Amino acid sequence: MILVEKRSDLAVAREAMTGRVAVVMTMGALHEGHAALVRAATAAADSVLVTIFVNPLQFAPGEDLDRYPRTLEADLALCERERASVVFAPTPDIVYPDGRPSVRVSAGRLGDVFEGATRPGHLDGVLTVVLKLMHLTRPDVALFGQKDAQQLAAIRQMVRDLDLSVDVVGVPTVREPDGLALSSRNRYLSPAERTSALALSRALQTGSVAAGRAVLDADPGVAPDYLERVDSASFTIDPSGDLLVVAARVGTTRLIDNLLLPPEGRAT
Ligand code: PAJ
Repeated sequence: MILVEKRSDLAVAREAMTGRVAVVMTMGALHEGHAALVRAATAAADSVLVTIFVNPLQFAPGEDLDRYPRTLEADLALCERERASVVFAPTPDIVYPDGRPSVRVSAGRLGDVFEGATRPGHLDGVLTVVLKLMHLTRPDVALFGQKDAQQLAAIRQMVRDLDLSVDVVGVPTVREPDGLALSSRNRYLSPAERTSALALSRALQTGSVAAGRAVLDADPGVAPDYLERVDSASFTIDPSGDLLVVAARVGTTRLIDNLLLPPEGRAT
């Protein structure tokens, strides 16, 4: 496995990759959710490139950019274990040589609702770095987690709207045995908060908005932001939509989760 930091070294390493190339983009602090993406990538392609970059553009002032966990050595071990062939781990000045870019991608309506309503500009920052990383790594296929369903929808929309020639593959959410969706931010949770955080997946498991909200409201440690049934591509609220989405604050940590509903559950 080759670790590269500079654009020129990435270009050389990318040139040496043969066959179908998959890219898995991450912000590091890798866990088994990320590992599942790399594993799916090795199944979908001949060689896998992982990017590790904590993208300042997608953090608002006051969010956790400075305390976001950085665990490069362990991340590299995980990439090696999962048979990635190249890891691109640049610093912000390499990705943004002129500082914050003045030209950016707009997520449009998807950037204004749900996650976008609470985190204005967040999805624009995500799409901007994803497009840049697409150009730098030139993948045939790029894999993203269903865990961040709205991010996945926005990336699919960008690929359609801006004519990117890359296949986007969504990978199912990896969970702890008790249901908690793996997230780099879970490490911020105290033991009591960790217990409260289970309310999100339990709320989704009810399969209904009303019952789910009741589960969230029953735990005083949980401050719900939203729980709705939506269409997974447009994120419009839809009583027969295929996705339940939830976001809540537990202590100071904001958590999101979602559940794809089986077709037979959609008629209700
Ligand atoms: P990050 O939060 O590091 O996540 C990287 C990828 O791992 C994303 O596609 C995310 O959906 C996926 N992922 C995270 N937790 C998962 C889980 N429990 N199961 C399955 N997949 C999971 O998402 C980002 O980074 C950034 O926004 C990025 C796309 C890299 C742009 O900066």
